[in-house]
Amino acid sequence: MKSFKQRKQLLIKKPLLLLWLIQPSAHIVGMDKLFTTLGEGTRRNCYEWETQRLIGLKSMDTKYACLVLNREIRAPQNVVKELWQNANIRCTVDGGTNRWRQFLKGLNECETPLRPPDFITGDFDSMSEESRAYFCNEVTKFIHTPDQNATDFTKALDIVRPLLLAQNSRDIIVFHDTSGRFDQIMGNINALYKKQNAMLNLYLLSGSSLTWLLRPGKHSIFIPQDLVKEQRWCSLIPMGGEVTISTTGLKWNIENGTLSFGGLVSTSNTYSSCTVTVETNGTLVWSMGIFSFSDDD
Ligand SMILES: *[C@@H]1O[C@H](CO)[C@@H](O)[C@H](O)[C@H]1NC(C)=O
Ligand SMILES: *[C@@H]1O[C@H](CO)[C@@H](O)[C@H](O)[C@H]1NC(C)=O
Ligand SMILES: *[C@@H]1O[C@H](CO)[C@@H](O)[C@H](O)[C@H]1NC(C)=O
Repeated sequence: MKSFKQRKQLLIKKPLLLLWLIQPSAHIVGMDKLFTTLGEGTRRNCYEWETQRLIGLKSMDTKYACLVLNREIRAPQNVVKELWQNANIRCTVDGGTNRWRQFLKGLNECETPLRPPDFITGDFDSMSEESRAYFCNEVTKFIHTPDQNATDFTKALDIVRPLLLAQNSRDIIVFHDTSGRFDQIMGNINALYKKQNAMLNLYLLSGSSLTWLLRPGKHSIFIPQDLVKEQRWCSLIPMGGEVTISTTGLKWNIENGTLSFGGLVSTSNTYSSCTVTVETNGTLVWSMGIFSFSDDD
């Protein structure tokens, strides 16, 4: 790990001076700290990911949006509440509005009420009349998005993203549970690929996993100590096609190896360190076990 730290310092210290020349928009600081650098004659992106903040172990220090999709919310109540209350934009998507109301019903009545959604979007074929009435207030705006060519999820992203950008932020945490519906999991992963952009980080947060895309470049992912100690699972999944990667900090590292479906896909991996580094030439899915300790291993 020593050599990694040294390398990291080299990567970070020098390029900061060049940052403005290379990518003026990189002044937007999100959950990942993006460093753009010139390495060995090629442009190379370095990202740092602070997973503690996304799972409620450390409070968020940047602006972000929360989105609720149409699945039961199974992440721990306190984490969901904390993330929702501190978000700068809150949005429920169609049937996700019913799920959010369900979540609110499960809260202790003596607690201070949670903030209302800023937006409720979708074609409204799944939102109930009761939910519509429940969120009828001065804050919440209902935005009808009938275009059947896109999913309610991607349409909601199109609404939230420009507002988030205007606040100098690019992080969106999506409550989506992965229970049962394989097609929805795939649809959501497709949304990550479709909407990926240097100005957008989408995190899928469920009751047992946290998932996002690693773009081409070098990534340092900071893993909470508990997850390393408990040897929770993590994975590198080349959903978008073949990628060549090198990793450190995993139990099963890959050195300049190729991941592809039909070839090697790194699932059920785990940690050898609190910092995982991944260098990749293409975009791939990173997914890691969090919260509940019973339904995997
Ligand atoms: C949906 O896709 C069809 C076929 O590509 C196109 O004709 C139609 O205009 C699209 N609808 C919207 C609302 O974009
Ligand atoms: C990675 O593997 C490729 C193909 O096997 C090889 O050409 C290349 O030199 C390797 N790079 C490093 C840094 O080992
Ligand atoms: C990454 O490199 C491998 C081997 O050179 C290549 O087959 C693959 O297409 C590359 N992937 C991307 C996304 O550039």
